[in-house]
Amino acid sequence: MASHRLGVPAPIISDRQFSKPLMCGPGPNDLYPAVAAAYAAPVISPACAEYYKVIEDIRAGIQYAFQTRSNLVLAVSGSGHAGMETVICNLLAPGELLLVPSRGLWDERAKDMARRYGIRVETIKTSEPFTTFSLEELESALERHRPAGLFITHGDSSTGTLQTLKGLGDLCHKYDTLLLVDIVASLGAEPVLMDEWGVDGAYASCQKALSGPAGVAPVAFSARADAYYASWQKALSGPAGVAPVAFSARAERSYSGCRRRVCVVPEGAEQAGRAFSARAEAKIFSRSHDVPFYFDITFLARQWKCYDDTFFYHHTLSSPLLFALRACLSQLAQESLPRAWARHAAVTAHFHARLRAHGFRFLVRRPEDRMNAITTVLPGMECNTFVAELRSKAWSTEVTKDRGEWKRKTCCADPHNAGGAGRRREKDSTGFILIIIHGYRHNIMITPGLGPTAGVAVRVGLMGANASAAVADRVADAMADVAGLRNATE
Ligand SMILES: Cc1ncc(COP(=O)(O)O)c(C=O)c1O
Repeated sequence: MASHRLGVPAPIISDRQFSKPLMCGPGPNDLYPAVAAAYAAPVISPACAEYYKVIEDIRAGIQYAFQTRSNLVLAVSGSGHAGMETVICNLLAPGELLLVPSRGLWDERAKDMARRYGIRVETIKTSEPFTTFSLEELESALERHRPAGLFITHGDSSTGTLQTLKGLGDLCHKYDTLLLVDIVASLGAEPVLMDEWGVDGAYASCQKALSGPAGVAPVAFSARADAYYASWQKALSGPAGVAPVAFSARAERSYSGCRRRVCVVPEGAEQAGRAFSARAEAKIFSRSHDVPFYFDITFLARQWKCYDDTFFYHHTLSSPLLFALRACLSQLAQESLPRAWARHAAVTAHFHARLRAHGFRFLVRRPEDRMNAITTVLPGMECNTFVAELRSKAWSTEVTKDRGEWKRKTCCADPHNAGGAGRRREKDSTGFILIIIHGYRHNIMITPGLGPTAGVAVRVGLMGANASAAVADRVADAMADVAGLRNATE
């Protein structure tokens, strides 16, 4: 063994005991059991044929989940923010204008990211806080600013609002604008119809209604890629009637070594209601600006075999995350989108009815602006205290034998002195047997508000594995208990 003097001693890293809470915040969420099992699958590499089968399944699953026929679908390594970064930097060039109708934290994040790429940003706000935009408001901003892109959050987990997207793609395309959408908190819980709504670039995350781990972000770019790419490929062999598009230097290198090539897109690709269907893809493959290596979709598309049977090493994908994402998408496909949407809608309606019956009020005033799956609630007390109590409020049950009869008494205990979850057997002062059971009454994790809702509301998520009436009842009753709206020892 080499003798080196170590200036830093080995730390003591050992497992601690903790009682896993029921994860009912706006994410991360509890995993579906099948996802947890898939996450523990053996590590594989691109050298295994199975690796490409997994990638193929994931791409098909994303096409179904996003409802897009685009071929430019894949998963970016990283959490939802990686998806945001990928969509923004691949679709907008420095100096171009991004319009961000802002109603919560994620729009602010998009603005921040865009500025770092030298993209100009304009913003509009909703007329009232915690509401959504009408198409008229969005159109007048499009008309005024004529941006290259419009970024909008579908389900905004910071406010609990859901933006209607139907018709927005057509509006954007009328003004020659690409539509970029965050579907992180809505995918799987709310209808998302990427092609029908004319979305040009969308990204999600695994840790919300898909009930998977964070760390891998499904992403899709509009294209109706089959038609577009077929025509693009055909164009390489030089058909007539074409509009020229130059490959960027980077895309060029990625396709054919260092040879300069000019690609042509047939005018036919613009026909049959597909006028803008290939916009995102066309822009990506013809852009002249560089994007960060890690998020360059022209490379990622090759790694993910989006068009051809390419083999390209870009970075090492995490196979446990790939297996987990595949399991999430398989779960969604088995349940089917309409059933998953209906389940989330029914559970949310039930949860809201229970909260109303307990006397809670909602932050989002208009029911039509509210998301399924994530609800912002006014707790009637200081938000952080409410959240902490729901997590840690402890109970202690004493079971005593009195004149031959067992008696049970439950009371609230100070969580710090409750001795943790467990049971103890003792004799009390009179010699009777006394069994004390300590536990957490609720142990439910919800989260305080974020961005515009910080200190104002708490955020509750009933998504994926936790979108059930039983969980809704448990959470509603626990919230009422903490808010003092129900007898604690009932
Ligand atoms: C709507 C929305 N967009 C983006 C994100 C960022 O995702 P992540 O935390 O996985 O990076 C979140 C996370 O909560 C979100 O709710």
